[in-house]
Amino acid sequence: MDSQTQMKQVVADVAIKEVKSDMILGLGSGSTAALMIKSLADQIRLGKLQNIKGVATSFQSEVLALELDIPLIDLASVSQIDLAIDGADEVDPGFQLIKGGGACHVREKLVASKADQLLIVVDETKLVQNLNQSFPLPVEVLPNAWKQVQEMILEMNGSASLRMATKKAGPVVTDQGNLILDVLFDDGIKNPKVMEMTINNIPGVLENGLFVDLADKVLVGKIENNTPVVYSPPRVS
Ligand code: 5RP
Repeated sequence: MDSQTQMKQVVADVAIKEVKSDMILGLGSGSTAALMIKSLADQIRLGKLQNIKGVATSFQSEVLALELDIPLIDLASVSQIDLAIDGADEVDPGFQLIKGGGACHVREKLVASKADQLLIVVDETKLVQNLNQSFPLPVEVLPNAWKQVQEMILEMNGSASLRMATKKAGPVVTDQGNLILDVLFDDGIKNPKVMEMTINNIPGVLENGLFVDLADKVLVGKIENNTPVVYSPPRVS
């Protein structure tokens, strides 16, 4: 197992300790969240966790939960989620996030917004001082609006590239049937709250990957003395 996967595995295992029986649990997306879902399935199989109902944030987490016999409940049929556990692409010192590296941020944000607690699980490569200095902000757009949104972002001094698929000709198509623009601003994103609203206000944009004031706790996996360990940094406001 490479060192990044070791960091992801340890943080996924520690995160499961925050789950209690009878919870409605938001199941995040991406490789770290997938390890967390597998760890959850182990705990259920061992009888250590009972009566868990998962709410999937993507087709990926839904398929994985079904394969692992984790009971699922539809987002529309729950009024509240006890805890959501999800990965992130960037985490700043104030726990503002960029998500959407797996193009799942629309449902991830819906689940996070309905959750009493959002626990973010990352390896330490995801910690940054300022958002969007290297990782592009994913923006989900209606298919026939991508060019128009791209032009609007250019006017805001940003670049926006249409995310292309790797095992399919043409663009990545999201779980909702939309497209993704990956957006980089020359100076990064200084004010995530304003940027989140500004981008979502562009006609044709469904949702962007800025998660502002949603994360309650962050668990970080790192390698110390050749051993994977987990810590929880304090939020800096
Ligand atoms: C998917 C996400 C993921 O949580 C994010 O991309 C992190 O993924 P990984 O754990 O594979 O690094 O936001 O839309």
